[in-house]
Amino acid sequence: MRARRIVAALGMSTMLVLAGCAGGGAGSDDGDDATDAAPTEDTGSEADTGSEGGETEAAAGGGDLSIGVAMPTQTSERWIADGDAVQAGLEEAGYTVDLQFAGDDIPTQSQQIDQMITNGADALIIAAIDGTALSSQLDAAADAGIPVISYDRLIRDSENVDFYVTFDNYQVGVQQATSLLVGLGLLNEDGSEGDATGPFNVELFAGSPDDNNATFFWDGAIDTLQPYFDDETLTVPSGQTDFDQAAILRWQQETAQKRMEDILTATYTGTDLVLDGVLSPYDGLSRGIITALQNSGLGPSIEEGLPIVSGQDAEIASVKLIADGVQFATIFKDTRKLAAQAVIAADAFLAGEEPEANDTETYDNGVKVVPSYLLESDIVYDSNIQELLVDSGYWSAEEVESGVAE
Ligand code: BGC
Repeated sequence: MRARRIVAALGMSTMLVLAGCAGGGAGSDDGDDATDAAPTEDTGSEADTGSEGGETEAAAGGGDLSIGVAMPTQTSERWIADGDAVQAGLEEAGYTVDLQFAGDDIPTQSQQIDQMITNGADALIIAAIDGTALSSQLDAAADAGIPVISYDRLIRDSENVDFYVTFDNYQVGVQQATSLLVGLGLLNEDGSEGDATGPFNVELFAGSPDDNNATFFWDGAIDTLQPYFDDETLTVPSGQTDFDQAAILRWQQETAQKRMEDILTATYTGTDLVLDGVLSPYDGLSRGIITALQNSGLGPSIEEGLPIVSGQDAEIASVKLIADGVQFATIFKDTRKLAAQAVIAADAFLAGEEPEANDTETYDNGVKVVPSYLLESDIVYDSNIQELLVDSGYWSAEEVESGVAE
């Protein structure tokens, strides 16, 4: 209960941080307001760098509270951005931050969290590698009175997850499938019916089976595609339509490339079948898939016959591929907004309060429904890269041009 004891000293700074950080506050009562709670549009870079009077003043009162932040890996840009943004937001609020990346290795992440607890962390923010592997760490945290915030990925099978900040993961899957349908011409970007009629051949990829998000993305996508399967507008020639067949352990690019190669060899090579599209739930997988497709002689661009490939995370290499007409779309989840919500939640716990949730039904972790704050995501097409990613300060025009984060 160490965290609870220092609450009084924090009270005022907490209120200022909440006011400065949250705009409308984390407490809006429905998902539609989710984006309101994030920093205003042009404050994105502030989440990265720290800034602005009110928040900085508030930081002065933060005392010596420390927060452990456990991120899964640095091999994907988004998690580096998440780590940086959470750290900056917490430091701005006056906390000491212990930020650790685990190289996608489960024992490493467990040890890092054990260490954070031993070192006296006052709160934990955790993006799990394997959502089922942290029960003993969470028990230890609960014994020590340390609140645990599950970050982006739900930690499963534990009573001791206090709050969950994430995006509307089912909706992300809907958006991934929608972008595939737009790429095939079955829908237009505005959601209206497109000119194409099909039939089209598609193949399906899913994320890591130990990541709770992967099934949400898959369910949202499959529910969206199902009517097109039912009337045979879409067919999956490989026959691999189960999540378990489509899943890519640890979201590995190489594994996705290999699976795409195997499907091409087994199902398409030497036949008249044309592959029209691939549902991919993450930009890293998309790039592996695109490499396999191009190596088999397709493309190299969509205009030259490369199948439509979806994605997620707006990684800069994929944003460039979209601008170059190679990858069709991605899903933008603004990590700055997610980080801001994590800071708000940590702050609330350390003030002895419950963070306000906007979803208390969806995320059952196997033991309990974890109160959640869900943010909204956007589909990125070539046509809105400027508006969504450049104008908001997420990527610069130069980064989009080079495909490299600066
Ligand atoms: C995240 C995605 C990300 C994936 C791979 C998921 O848990 O929600 O944004 O693409 O992990 O890192």
